[in-house]
Amino acid sequence: MNIAIIGSGNIGSGLAFTFGQTAYSVSLASHHEESARQVANKLAKDNISAVSIADAVKGADVVILATPYEAISNLASSIDFSGKVVVDVTNPVKADFSGLSIGFDTSAAEEIQTLLPKAKVVKAFNTVFAQVYEQGLEFAGNKAQTFVAADDDAAKQTVLTLANEAGFDAVDAGALSNARYLEPLAYMNIHFGYMLGKGTQIIPAWLSR
Ligand SMILES: NC(=O)c1ccc[n+]([C@@H]2O[C@H](COP(=O)([O-])OP(=O)(O)OC[C@H]3O[C@@H](n4cnc5c(N)ncnc54)[C@H](OP(=O)(O)O)[C@@H]3O)[C@@H](O)[C@H]2O)c1
Repeated sequence: MNIAIIGSGNIGSGLAFTFGQTAYSVSLASHHEESARQVANKLAKDNISAVSIADAVKGADVVILATPYEAISNLASSIDFSGKVVVDVTNPVKADFSGLSIGFDTSAAEEIQTLLPKAKVVKAFNTVFAQVYEQGLEFAGNKAQTFVAADDDAAKQTVLTLANEAGFDAVDAGALSNARYLEPLAYMNIHFGYMLGKGTQIIPAWLSR
């Protein structure tokens, strides 16, 4: 399976680090190709390469969008995502971190699905701080959870499998419209981490008994 990661910043490089430890091949791409090349060189794994955004998407089974939410409309108008499983990691956080720019009756994931009508959009990984990846996905003996929401069942299953193989405990979070709740959950995580002093080695989890 070929995974394209668009965006090689905090999250893109963290996901590349994690998927670089699986048998998947990872194509890392960015706005400025040089940024992706630097990250790929630093990670120095045979299964990670830096390519252009167009080439990354063309060769991918799964495309992970790890850019600011606002960048997606630009990508949508220049790149063909038809038929691809597209994983939306974005959180539409306002520039001053005072909250989310959209929500309640829509979500970044649903807006991205509208921008990419021929893709199968899946929300995942958005509640995981980038800093988590390098230190591993285990928290006090438990695997980190990631919540996976999508309307296309096969696409959702692909991402659940991918996440589990990378070391997550992937949780089926229902329809794509549940991104309306997953994005505020990520914002609460940011609030705990930065405003309430818990730091970035935290993660939301659903417990059952
Ligand atoms: N940081 C976290 O802990 C975290 C956790 C969960 C979700 N997220 C979400 O993940 C996304 C990325 O966050 P981040 O912290 O990784 O941001 P970041 O470090 O600023 O990285 C953003 C990346 O997006 C690329 N980019 C920007 N505009 C682009 C465009 N028009 N086309 C293609 N690539 C573009 C940048 O490319 P260049 O460097 O080449 O300019 C950069 O590689 C955001 O939506 C954020 O809400 C972040």
